[in-house]
Amino acid sequence: MASLYKTGILKDGTVVVLRAMTEDDRDKLRDFFNRVDENDLMFLRTDVRDPKVIDEWVKHIDYRRVFPLIAEVDGKIIGDATLHMRKVGWKRHLGNVRVVVAKEYQNKGLATLLVNELVDLAVEFGLEKLVAEIHLQAPAAIAVFKKAGFAAKAVFEDLVKDPSGKRGDLVVMVCDVQGRDRRA
Ligand SMILES: CC(C)(COP(=O)(O)OP(=O)(O)OC[C@H]1O[C@@H](n2cnc3c(N)ncnc32)[C@H](O)[C@@H]1OP(=O)(O)O)[C@@H](O)C(=O)NCCC(=O)NCCS
Repeated sequence: MASLYKTGILKDGTVVVLRAMTEDDRDKLRDFFNRVDENDLMFLRTDVRDPKVIDEWVKHIDYRRVFPLIAEVDGKIIGDATLHMRKVGWKRHLGNVRVVVAKEYQNKGLATLLVNELVDLAVEFGLEKLVAEIHLQAPAAIAVFKKAGFAAKAVFEDLVKDPSGKRGDLVVMVCDVQGRDRRA
């Protein structure tokens, strides 16, 4: 899987490289997360602006636990999508998907490329369902996951907080991938 290396074309014609993150990406990832808007990082569970967090990620890559897919243009990371899996337990057939795209590359189809690629990977990994947790007031994110085949299954009102402390609703979207064929 680490050999995953593809190109994709954005709506404006920009050619992007999609590939698995490797341990050599530490500095590029630090640079990427420092460029991403703070509000666009609120759904993450770790402080990706802390260099130690990135150090830990690149030191402990295990593609069967977390598959980190990055998008690059001219050697610069412009998007990151991750597929999180569990090897044991009652969620071992599930994957969680997260995606973030740099502001200047948003609305060009990049997240759609990344999420579709993770759906294909989930099929290869033999997963059955994918789950995404999204702020209800994030229409672009909801649109991306809908296009990839996810459907809203539950809304938790007033559950999450943005960086300013304002509460919001969380929508859980699920995509059935069991028995699916990879896209051509
Ligand atoms: C969500 C996010 C990843 C989308 O990335 P992106 O590369 O801009 O996404 P895409 O360009 O592939 O698709 C965006 C879609 O949203 C649609 N969209 C954008 N703003 C919208 C709005 N206000 N209302 C409805 N749809 C909207 C676009 O039209 C596009 O759909 P289309 O291609 O059918 O026209 C990006 O906004 C981001 O990084 N947000 C912060 C992180 C986040 O919320 N992640 C989701 C939690 S896992």
